[in-house]
Amino acid sequence: MRLSDCHNHHDFRRLAERRLPGPIFNYIDGAADDESTYRRNTAAFEACDLVPSVLRGAPEVDLSVTVMGQKLAAPFYCSPTALQRLFHHRGEHAVAAAAARHGTLFGVSSLGTVGLEELRRRHATPQVYQFYFHKDRGLNRAMMQRAKEAGVEVMMLTVDSITGGNRERDKRTGFSIPFRLTLAGLLQFALKPAWGINYVTHERFRLPQLDAHIDMGSGTMSIGRYFTEMLDPTMNWDDVAEMVREWGGPFCLKGVMSVADARRAADIGCAGVVLSNHGGRQLDGSRSAFDQLAEVVDAVGDRIDVMMDGGVQRGSHVLKALSLGAKAVGLGRYYLYPLAAAGQPGVDRALDLMRDEVLRGMKLMGCRSVGELNRSNLRFR
Ligand SMILES: Cc1cc2nc3c(=O)[nH]c(=O)nc-3n(C[C@H](O)[C@H](O)[C@H](O)COP(=O)(O)O)c2cc1C
Repeated sequence: MRLSDCHNHHDFRRLAERRLPGPIFNYIDGAADDESTYRRNTAAFEACDLVPSVLRGAPEVDLSVTVMGQKLAAPFYCSPTALQRLFHHRGEHAVAAAAARHGTLFGVSSLGTVGLEELRRRHATPQVYQFYFHKDRGLNRAMMQRAKEAGVEVMMLTVDSITGGNRERDKRTGFSIPFRLTLAGLLQFALKPAWGINYVTHERFRLPQLDAHIDMGSGTMSIGRYFTEMLDPTMNWDDVAEMVREWGGPFCLKGVMSVADARRAADIGCAGVVLSNHGGRQLDGSRSAFDQLAEVVDAVGDRIDVMMDGGVQRGSHVLKALSLGAKAVGLGRYYLYPLAAAGQPGVDRALDLMRDEVLRGMKLMGCRSVGELNRSNLRFR
């Protein structure tokens, strides 16, 4: 199986599974507890159908959108994800370059493996910095200042992760940073020597967003301990309001789900919210972002930009979310499997396919621009 054999999300996933050692594949592919929210995220899109308008003549279709002040050529973006250089040695560079080619934004995780400054210098497309809130307020300020100086456009605070989700697949394989593999997990690495050769022959694995502030590199601080010891589970609305003021630019919350929280986000000056359950990796049993989208858009859509992520695998999913009022849609595993399968050419191909699907879908819907999609072209079953 080669990249040219990949025509959709499922093909990329299969190719990634062939290339990656089992523990790494399962880190991407897995979710929390029974993974029921993970499954629902994609299934939710089946709850409704698109109703096209015909004979409207749509030769030219404009896919551009403006989100939190950023003009994007397409209504989807690469949501921030951790540890990308474990999946492919080019990691965030591959994703950022593909996002730039498609004129869309990409997110850099606090647990990213390439420095946000380097990414800002090398890839000319809007960049989001995904932030976790630390107990040490000085550290929060220093990290925000660093992002500001680097020229990051949008600050995105993840609010669904005050503790880590229960990822049972990772427990079975022993996946953690640093690695603490079980014997079964180790054997799976032995089965994929090409991954190991790539890993040791390229730049050393690092977490540069954190390395400057926390001793992650020497292996004394694991990511598990980072979550339990460094992050602040008491974070509240006043803390976030202060961050929003301090940032002074577009600020959004990722992981908001309720109408009341979306309203508070608008009240404290956020430019947007991303409805998200972290790809089903945190609170299992949580509602899907798509199921929750309409009521949040109705409540705050005239004040702030509402985005969503989770389970998006097809152009039709994007069309449905935009029809309900999302300003843009985040992709997670949709670009991670292609990254693992083939690096930048993989992510490029996946984003090309998504763009083609959205474009084709818009033409078949009789829509010339994203703004023409609305609830009248959607029916719930
Ligand atoms: C392997 C992996 C790592 C992730 N790392 C982060 C992260 O560091 N910060 C964050 O806010 N979200 C993270 N996410 C969540 C994504 O940003 C996004 O919300 C989610 O993947 C969307 O669901 P989907 O994968 O079904 O598209 C991660 C998701 C995956 C699959």
